[in-house]
Amino acid sequence: MSSFFSDMSRRSFLGASAATLLASTLPTFSLAAAAPRRIILDCDTGVDDAIAILLALRSPELKIEAVTAVAGNVPLAFTLPNTLRMVELTGRTDVPVAGGAATPLVRRLITASYVHGNNGLGGVDFPEPKLKPVAESAGELIGRIVRSSPGQITIVGVGPLTNVALALKSDPELGPQIKEIVVMGGSLTGGNITPAAEFNFYVDPEAARIVFDSGVPVTMVGLNVTQKVLLGETQLATLEAADTPVSQAAAKILRSTLEHIRKGRGVTVNTMAMHDPLTVGHLIDPTLLTLKDDYVQIETSGEFTAGESVAYEYAPARLSSPMATGQTAPETSAAEFRPNCKVAVGVDPDKFFRLLLPRLTAA
Ligand code: BDR
Ligand code: CA
Repeated sequence: MSSFFSDMSRRSFLGASAATLLASTLPTFSLAAAAPRRIILDCDTGVDDAIAILLALRSPELKIEAVTAVAGNVPLAFTLPNTLRMVELTGRTDVPVAGGAATPLVRRLITASYVHGNNGLGGVDFPEPKLKPVAESAGELIGRIVRSSPGQITIVGVGPLTNVALALKSDPELGPQIKEIVVMGGSLTGGNITPAAEFNFYVDPEAARIVFDSGVPVTMVGLNVTQKVLLGETQLATLEAADTPVSQAAAKILRSTLEHIRKGRGVTVNTMAMHDPLTVGHLIDPTLLTLKDDYVQIETSGEFTAGESVAYEYAPARLSSPMATGQTAPETSAAEFRPNCKVAVGVDPDKFFRLLLPRLTAA
């Protein structure tokens, strides 16, 4: 097993507290004078999830209350240790990490190892994490943190929304206490795993539906913007040139992933979309994305379309026409537009990379 940054992992356990470390190494980054946004980050770590965790934990605008892992890109047996590894790599061992759902709510798990590699980190071998998950499940931890600070916690879901849905299902009183749920998922312009569905919503459409129907303010950061934010050779060169454990790890994961995709598909792949880091970036600098009010419903029953985010900016979309043997005709759509979420419709990719790269390359 490669140990190219095992020295760093050990070093990160030494010395001052992680909060002190963050404050002392990244003082000039803060974009906001306001108190940091309190975040729970739920990931299926995953290559771009890994970069999102690194970005989140190196951003003083955010107070990461917990990082929780869910099955998705690869099974939970990988996403949880990968999450622990990334948290450990930043030295932020003060942040609790919890393991969550190993399967979607009602479906079998479909993974994306063809992109993320069998281990979820592009095939790069990392040392076993020393950091351990907390005893609570992800859903329990999410619930406890939200209930202890009603109205203050934003949940950022960058994997299938199973953990978030389980938390909402387990406590009907929880939703109104969540400040906001920001999700990487869905699309206004077609899917990436089926013509209709984006991967996270495809893996657990029922969970996505619970989140969008929860009444909690939801922001959807979908493929229509994330696929415009492509990390390529220029950004990789910057990461590789910086001789820091975080930038070296990020570069190694990303380069290895591009090579893995190239081998699998037999085509040259020079760029990778920064889906999850962009979603975290939006929390750090809201000017990266343009949002609009929308009404999104999640398809759960389609034979070819499950997980599709059906967006209609005027009103809830009308149901499909009823079967002749059905009992009742569907209601017509409401005449009045009442948005149920905000959807990202515009993005400034250059501005995003000006945010991301200094945070990954800083000493
Ligand atoms: C999403 O699916 C995963 O493969 C990525 O980590 C991202 O969250 C993009 O569709
Ligand atoms: Ca993800």
